[in-house]
Amino acid sequence: MKITKAVIPAAGLGTRVLPATKVMPKEMLPIVDKPAIQYIVEEAAASGITDILIITNRGKGFIEDHFDKAPVLQGILEKDGKDDLLSTIKDLDKLANIHYIRQIDTLGLGHAISKAKSFVSGEPFAVLYGDDVVVGGEKPATKELIDAYGTYGKGVLGIKPVSKEAIRSYSSVKVENIKDNIFKCTDMIEKPQRDEDVLSLYSILGRCVLPYEIFDILAHTKPGAKNEIQLTDAMRELAITEGMTAVEYTGTRYDIGNKFGIMQAAIEIGLNHPEIGADLREYLKNFAKTL
Ligand code: UTP
Repeated sequence: MKITKAVIPAAGLGTRVLPATKVMPKEMLPIVDKPAIQYIVEEAAASGITDILIITNRGKGFIEDHFDKAPVLQGILEKDGKDDLLSTIKDLDKLANIHYIRQIDTLGLGHAISKAKSFVSGEPFAVLYGDDVVVGGEKPATKELIDAYGTYGKGVLGIKPVSKEAIRSYSSVKVENIKDNIFKCTDMIEKPQRDEDVLSLYSILGRCVLPYEIFDILAHTKPGAKNEIQLTDAMRELAITEGMTAVEYTGTRYDIGNKFGIMQAAIEIGLNHPEIGADLREYLKNFAKTL
């Protein structure tokens, strides 16, 4: 079955990036000149997704405005003949059909995803976490996962290895290599706190493709780590009963939900930016000498 729907949970409070996120959604923080969520929507569109549901919350209206037309600004740029600037904003509303729903209570990622049930209506769908930007790679990360869903017919997790220290803040998955960057996944745990709970140093980072059955599981998933309804706990049930596939996607992932990730993204994506890349490289080389 062709996967054409995606859900972007973006209702989190972004407390790790306060005070920047007091008013501004973290998904709208810029990486060079584009808000993080634009990279994510572009990745979805490049992966064949035609319909996106963004799960929002109070104060996240900037996201809707960003993917809307801006008639006054567009009119001025047109009048002034600033076609290069116009092209950066003109077609954002055409990337995909973008729908929005509010998660009234911030009860966790699993709870946010459960809000997508009627939008998804019976189909498998992709999930792109609103604070994980993935760039580069052989294909867009979501496309790599969709292809694995097509081949193996099971829910797919996007994974990457992380450090022993970092795994405690993420999830840990039990994996067995099938071939190349594709694994079979039979178990997982969210935020393992003891060494003996760590299943591997592979963690689910920002992308998955899920069957519709996940909604039945989410309906009875109890609050877990951080007292939140965790998507990982629901996916664990799926992994144990049906099995899941995991793909170590080839792109580079930036966690823009924390301060360090925001800086990494700005520097690395900035270095490849056609307008400022060369100047930034020169600046960094010189600056590094002073450190
Ligand atoms: P995070 O746990 O990284 O986001 O959730 P957060 O809650 O904003 O983080 P803090 O406050 O800095 O610790 C991962 C993704 O799930 C979304 C977030 O917006 C992010 O994209 N999310 C999380 C929701 O949509 N709803 C929730 O209740 C929790």
